[in-house]
Amino acid sequence: MEIFLETERLLLRRFTEADVDALVELDGDPEVMRFLTGGKPTPREVVQDDILPAFLQYYARFAGYGFWAATLKATGEFLGWFHFRPHEGASLDEPELGYRLRRSAWGKGYATEGSRALIHNGFTELGVRRVVASTMAVNIASRRVMEKSGLRLVRIYHESWPYPIEGSEEGDVEYAVTREEWEQATLPHDRSTPH
Ligand SMILES: CC(C)(COP(=O)(O)OP(=O)(O)OC[C@H]1O[C@@H](n2cnc3c(N)ncnc32)[C@H](O)[C@@H]1OP(=O)(O)O)[C@@H](O)C(=O)NCCC(=O)NCCS
Repeated sequence: MEIFLETERLLLRRFTEADVDALVELDGDPEVMRFLTGGKPTPREVVQDDILPAFLQYYARFAGYGFWAATLKATGEFLGWFHFRPHEGASLDEPELGYRLRRSAWGKGYATEGSRALIHNGFTELGVRRVVASTMAVNIASRRVMEKSGLRLVRIYHESWPYPIEGSEEGDVEYAVTREEWEQATLPHDRSTPH
């Protein structure tokens, strides 16, 4: 098992060909897919023939970027995934953060824990300049994770979307954090001795 990052409770590792069932199950929950496909599950053939192969090819193309399977350190349970990689056509030092976790794993701070570790690694090891993330305006949990991970709202935008759900008319939101902002918020500010 190739571990990419370790946090207090999580391991982020590379996907392998053995992860088809876990991904089919993850994308099979309409609640997980609500803001992604309007709740439609991803067919097994698509996971097997398109999604997983794309995840696997990523590791060869970019060191440090890609899709990472998240497991619980204590039990090895598959929780879902994170991605950290430049959006199609975007600059290499401006990766996009994303996450998708099984419903049983929600509400325990895992998405925030994994996101913070990826952001930290990006700024300290990968030469990242700015991290971006986007979601539907009505996806409050996802927005909260972005905020708790240090990203701030940049813009609201409207794109045509093939899976309209209640609230899609509110559009999408883009969040971001620059290296300077992250350093200011994370690193000790004033090391001068008080007098
Ligand atoms: C988005 C997602 C990854 C969040 O995972 P998570 O591990 O539950 O996130 P965290 O526990 O770190 O934080 C979630 C925060 O959202 C809040 N939240 C969740 N649902 C909420 C809701 N309906 N209204 C208000 N706040 C909500 C939680 O209270 C928590 O904030 P808090 O710590 O201030 O209380 C998870 O819900 C998920 O996988 N959703 C389906 C896939 C998805 O939509 N991915 C994002 C697409 S861009």
